[in-house]
Amino acid sequence: MALDRPLRYGMVGGGPGAFIGAVHRSAAALDGNLDLVAGAFSSDPETSHRQGAALHLAPDRVYDTYAQMAAAEADRPDGIDVVSIVTPNHLHYDVACAFVDRGIHVICDKPMTTTLDDAEALCRRVEAQDVVFCLTHTYAGYPLVKQARALVQQGRLGELRKVVVAYPQGWLNRRLEADDNKQAAWRTDPALAGAGALGDIGTHAEHLARYVTGRALERLCADVGTVVKGRAVDDDASILARYEGGVRGLIHCSQIAAGEENNLRLRVYGSEAGLAWDQEDPHRLTLLSDVNGDAPQQVYTHGRASLADSVQPFLRTPQGHPEGFIEAFANLYRSAAHAIAAHEAGVAPAPWAQDVPTVQDGARGVHFIQAALRSSKNEMWVDASYAPPGA
Ligand SMILES: NC(=O)c1ccc[n+]([C@@H]2O[C@H](COP(=O)([O-])OP(=O)(O)OC[C@H]3O[C@@H](n4cnc5c(N)ncnc54)[C@H](O)[C@@H]3O)[C@@H](O)[C@H]2O)c1
Repeated sequence: MALDRPLRYGMVGGGPGAFIGAVHRSAAALDGNLDLVAGAFSSDPETSHRQGAALHLAPDRVYDTYAQMAAAEADRPDGIDVVSIVTPNHLHYDVACAFVDRGIHVICDKPMTTTLDDAEALCRRVEAQDVVFCLTHTYAGYPLVKQARALVQQGRLGELRKVVVAYPQGWLNRRLEADDNKQAAWRTDPALAGAGALGDIGTHAEHLARYVTGRALERLCADVGTVVKGRAVDDDASILARYEGGVRGLIHCSQIAAGEENNLRLRVYGSEAGLAWDQEDPHRLTLLSDVNGDAPQQVYTHGRASLADSVQPFLRTPQGHPEGFIEAFANLYRSAAHAIAAHEAGVAPAPWAQDVPTVQDGARGVHFIQAALRSSKNEMWVDASYAPPGA
């Protein structure tokens, strides 16, 4: 289903100096499928209007608050089709509800909410209002991650045995929240962030393992801790996991791993072969051949016809021309835009347009955080199986 016009979108969050709002705007612009026409960019009205002016928006479509924006945009004949939510975590639920309840589609960053009750309520509201909801687990947008998933689906690894996701960062190895670092401040405030490293990057790791293996989480045993003295949220977690079919898992996320940048690494091992993908070298995926056989390691690279058919729609530049973070985000935006257009036209979206994390994935992420915290507190394995509303 082709878009017959660019979708109109609004943004909540993404004010001057914000991290991910600018990435979302670049990603949304990449394919010409979405035009930014409205925004409530900050909790401070003056800052919101300053950002709207810098982005050349019509002044009457820059709002003091997201609540005003939802009401006004829903009333306009040329109101927004979709809202992009890029605020700190504690606002995701209320902002999403303000738009979902008016029938406006949503693209929201993770973690979806700070409580499981909110996550489940959001699942129900999205279903009741029949809107498209895309959660931006960025790493599912990378072509070589999609190739990893395709190789698993093709059975190239044999019987799946183990998945390992390590996500170390080092930027919170000091108490930046005590300095004037706004991003560290809200990320380490339980009321604003919900959880710490588990929510900020652990949910990405959990989603990546599940996305590539296609296996649901069943049980976990977690050691979640706060390493930096005086910090109010977790900053390091090591989690043993069991997935359906007996697949073993290991999820590690840390924000106190000194010197690490954004070193997300995925390994998947089967009875016949393994897979290795590193986010800091995202356009290579290694098929690890059995050391007891005679096949060489195989490196899949970005842009080749040898990648699976399901990956081809997500390639943008020819081989040897690297793509990265913004293109991965853009892949999610393009799929979501086509899913929304198909929804509005009352037709089924193309398979590649359905390849986005959903509101149920968001609820699974929040459930994962809570299961990990419960396990760590009680120092025991816990049941982590979960079926969110609408799954
Ligand atoms: N998918 C990813 O890879 C990824 C990466 C980074 C951040 N994130 C997520 O994106 C979200 C934002 O993170 P960030 O790093 O950009 O944070 P940030 O602190 O840089 O930006 C947050 C923005 O929200 C604005 N804001 C706060 N309250 C608001 C309100 N009431 N109304 C309107 N705007 C308001 C702030 O003014 C700021 O501009 C978080 O949920 C975070 O977990 C996702």
